[in-house]
Amino acid sequence: MDLFSQIEEPEREELLSLRRELEEANYKYYVLNQPTLSDREFDEKMHRLQDLEAMFPDMYDPKSPTQQVGSDLDVQRNNVPGTKGSKFETVKHKYPMLSLANSYSREEIEDWVRKLPSGVEIVCELKYDGLSISLWYEHGVLVRALTRGDGQQGDDVIANIKTIPSIPWKIDRNDVPAFFELRGEVLLPWTRFEALNKEREEQEEPLFANPRNAASGTLKLQDPREVARRGLEAYLYYMIGENLPGKTHFERLETAKAWGFHISDAIRVCHSVDEVMAYIAYWDTERKNLPVATDGIVLKVNNLAEQEELGYTAKTPRWAIAYKFPAEKQLTLLKEITYQVGRTGVVTPVANLEPVQLSGTIVQRATLHNEDFIKSLDIRPGNRVWVEKGGEIIPKITGKDEGLPVTGYGDYSFPTTCPECGATLVRVEGEAAWRCPNEAGCPPQIKGKIEHFVSRKAMNIDGLGEETIDLLYRQGLLHNIADIYDLKSEDIAAQERLGEKSAQNMLAGIEASKQVPWARVLFALGIRMVGETTAKKIAKRFISIDSLQWATAEQLCAIEDVGPQIAENVVKYFEDIRNIEILDRLRKAGLQLEGEAAEEPTSDKLAGMSIVISGTFSQHSRDEYKAMIEANGGKNSGSVSKKTSFILAGENMGPEKRKKAEDLGIPLKTEEEFLELIKN
Ligand code: IVH
Repeated sequence: MDLFSQIEEPEREELLSLRRELEEANYKYYVLNQPTLSDREFDEKMHRLQDLEAMFPDMYDPKSPTQQVGSDLDVQRNNVPGTKGSKFETVKHKYPMLSLANSYSREEIEDWVRKLPSGVEIVCELKYDGLSISLWYEHGVLVRALTRGDGQQGDDVIANIKTIPSIPWKIDRNDVPAFFELRGEVLLPWTRFEALNKEREEQEEPLFANPRNAASGTLKLQDPREVARRGLEAYLYYMIGENLPGKTHFERLETAKAWGFHISDAIRVCHSVDEVMAYIAYWDTERKNLPVATDGIVLKVNNLAEQEELGYTAKTPRWAIAYKFPAEKQLTLLKEITYQVGRTGVVTPVANLEPVQLSGTIVQRATLHNEDFIKSLDIRPGNRVWVEKGGEIIPKITGKDEGLPVTGYGDYSFPTTCPECGATLVRVEGEAAWRCPNEAGCPPQIKGKIEHFVSRKAMNIDGLGEETIDLLYRQGLLHNIADIYDLKSEDIAAQERLGEKSAQNMLAGIEASKQVPWARVLFALGIRMVGETTAKKIAKRFISIDSLQWATAEQLCAIEDVGPQIAENVVKYFEDIRNIEILDRLRKAGLQLEGEAAEEPTSDKLAGMSIVISGTFSQHSRDEYKAMIEANGGKNSGSVSKKTSFILAGENMGPEKRKKAEDLGIPLKTEEEFLELIKN
């Protein structure tokens, strides 16, 4: 190496590392919404990178952050699909992604072991029940994340994979090979899965059947911000490439762990089938305490030379095999089908079973989902049915015992009237559910609406739980949400089980709810499909019930995330005179039916405009400018695009934004010009 290149070397490295750092910062800022650098730090680094690139023209790269502008391009550079209609890039696997042969018993494992060299070491691992992923690292940098696809080629979902905190974007070590691939499983942990489904239930969206489906849906989302919010996790279990360190699979995983990868602690090297069976027995119960779903274990020949010797069949390696935990299912009698009517009137059939032991709990009820589900299984009371614990949590019926003459107790048909109030059920076209339309007169709908209203994320009224609501409803004291505010201390205290103290607690909770802000009150009203987030967005645009009451479907649809169905539900809600009466009473009771006055547009001078704020200001803070834009009917946007009306430009405006504005011909306004524009 000559003297010149020795001097240049550190700066060339600095250049490369700055590119990576700025790319990462861009991604975290625009995509994950979690800025890691201040604007100032970002600009300083960008300037330094520009200087270095000027010094080394041979290192020109059209993909450098200095050459890319604006958020959507950053997003594209990171291959975020969904922007500009792009799809995931399909990429051929360097090594095909195979599946594993399955086994279900000690005998089958013994058969497999017999074909292996004698004295072989077998690595036992958990079999994670998610989706396989292949991570490509070039010079220690994550460059691709491919799904299994058809085994030969997969989709590059790197932008979504980058939201998983345990996956390193780069490995800052000098002992990593030029290229290696790490394979593993992407999963949605149980707690995240349950929270996601709960949220979907509240928004009346279809539920995911198990964490695997949820992870699969999440990995293919077009918006990495939503992926990040859902909280995927990954476990890695296989390293491949050329010239990798280590002679055994176990050593490679240890190395991967040392490089910062998330490798399970449950991995064991076994020397006999007995040891393998002990591992299986242990994890068959212990896995229930893991944060993620597993459906078996994987056995792998430890020695890599032996692995190579054994080779592959067309579909699976010969050096590995899966052992699947037995599906927990039981036959039992379907005694009766009962029906539950939910808050929104949906009628759900429920199987009442002869109690049966399953995965450590006694099961006597299981959902039958809807009429189509019952028809597809062709089951009726009197049948013996198979019950399984779907995804280990919710018991489900998977079929009937075909071995016996199946007569059941006679013909079965889904009810035509509401089992609670007798109203004629309706089935909306395109929906599987039958609904009771008697919203205001059907007891579970009445009580369900009140339960929703008082729930923690809504009005958060302590002391008014499901049982108390039921009691007060039966006593004729509660018929709708407005009745809550007419409850008297003596009415409550007079109830059996509810004393003086409960009455005081409840009334304090009711009183406190009068301070709950408008967005939550709107959510609490329980308008169909208006969940927590949607309510917030609507409440921001329509800052009082009075303005919302007259909103048209078209105006509502202009709000982010509000589609025609939600808009129609809102409009219909206000068309019902009973709701208007309830709202009147809530207003008289002193509820917050309007938002902060500051949020209300004071003028429409900026109506329909999308304005980007960039740089530092002397007269007001960025937040104050943001509030002013909104108060004048405008929209503050984070990135420059064709739709940007103008940029409110302060000192030291970001060079990327400036360049993009120039390219697109977007005007800049100083803060003085802006203040002049909105002056009364
Ligand atoms: S090894 C060539 N190890 O199970 C061997 N796979 O049914 C590659 N899986 O496609 C696979 N946990 O998605 C391996 N500890 C583990 C695993 C595992 C889960 C998945 C993987 C594979 C599928 C085969």
